[in-house]
Amino acid sequence: MAKEKGIKELEDLPGIGPTSAEKLKAAGYDNIEKIATAAPHELSEISGISVEAAKKAVDAAKQATTLEFSTGSQVYEKRKSLGKVKTGSKDLDSLLGGGVEANAITEAYGKFASGKTQLGFQLAVNAQLPVKDGGLDGKVLFIDTEGTFRPDRIEQLSKAAGLDPKQVLDNILVVRATSTDQQILAIERADKLVREDNVKLIIVDSLMALFRSEFLGRGALGERQQKLNAHIHKLQRLADTYDLAVYITNQVMDNPGILFGDPTTPVGGNVVAHAATTRLYMRKSKEEKRIIRLVDSPNMPEGEAIMKITPDGIKD
Ligand code: GTP
Ligand code: MG
Repeated sequence: MAKEKGIKELEDLPGIGPTSAEKLKAAGYDNIEKIATAAPHELSEISGISVEAAKKAVDAAKQATTLEFSTGSQVYEKRKSLGKVKTGSKDLDSLLGGGVEANAITEAYGKFASGKTQLGFQLAVNAQLPVKDGGLDGKVLFIDTEGTFRPDRIEQLSKAAGLDPKQVLDNILVVRATSTDQQILAIERADKLVREDNVKLIIVDSLMALFRSEFLGRGALGERQQKLNAHIHKLQRLADTYDLAVYITNQVMDNPGILFGDPTTPVGGNVVAHAATTRLYMRKSKEEKRIIRLVDSPNMPEGEAIMKITPDGIKD
């Protein structure tokens, strides 16, 4: 919450003129709180002011904002009121403690045809349901980096859920990103869209495909992880600010370092591992069956669920 001290708008910060303020706002930095938590080099890059000047602006923004402390009970109340998107499978819902949580990033990783995209489609439909029916009563932003968004499949799922397919499709805002720059920009610029269109679920399918193909070799790894880190933090910030759910899919590789058990590991390294609140490992089983393992969760025990990918969508 911004305190007095005369600093209320971006333009009130030292070193930020009307032009740089406009640029920052266009990039989603539209209030003092966001400047206070921003990385100076990022602000500098966006607005053209020097890193030094950006540091001063961030410091001033920090001083102009106060931190609010909450009691554990208040946090508990807030958490209980947070929405969850049902997946279509009761077994998977209970593994997740009710569904895919708002205010958090849920990652699904697994080999091809394991059902990551299908689960994304189902969530894109279910998120639009009223809260009492297991939705978040909001729209969906779908970042498609692999060209696998299928409106006809959404239509099929909508009909099965008794919803008007046209309306469901109208409520899904699709961005087909073909470069990491486009992928990053789609999220950088999402604030306005999220606010004005009441977006309650953001899907990135897949998070890593473009990053992997653009940043090849060891030499590029540092830069890749840095960009990825900023991208995923922006996603987290959107989840926090607007109480929305984020669902990302991720690819896997075989890790030869693992001698016992399943050598399949998600790509993206520590950056993705730390950022994902909940991680799901999806495996193909016989025919429609998929096995989902909860690998990492802040409050649910590890475990497995079985779901089916049917013509009508995700079921038990
Ligand atoms: P990659 O993106 O290739 O890594 O895989 P993914 O994990 O995203 O797989 P996806 O979610 O696309 O799952 C593909 C599987 O879902 C297919 O092998 C089918 O078994 C199933 N599937 C896809 N479309 C349909 C459909 O329209 N009806 C039914 N019943 N099953 C479908
Ligand atoms: Mg897919």
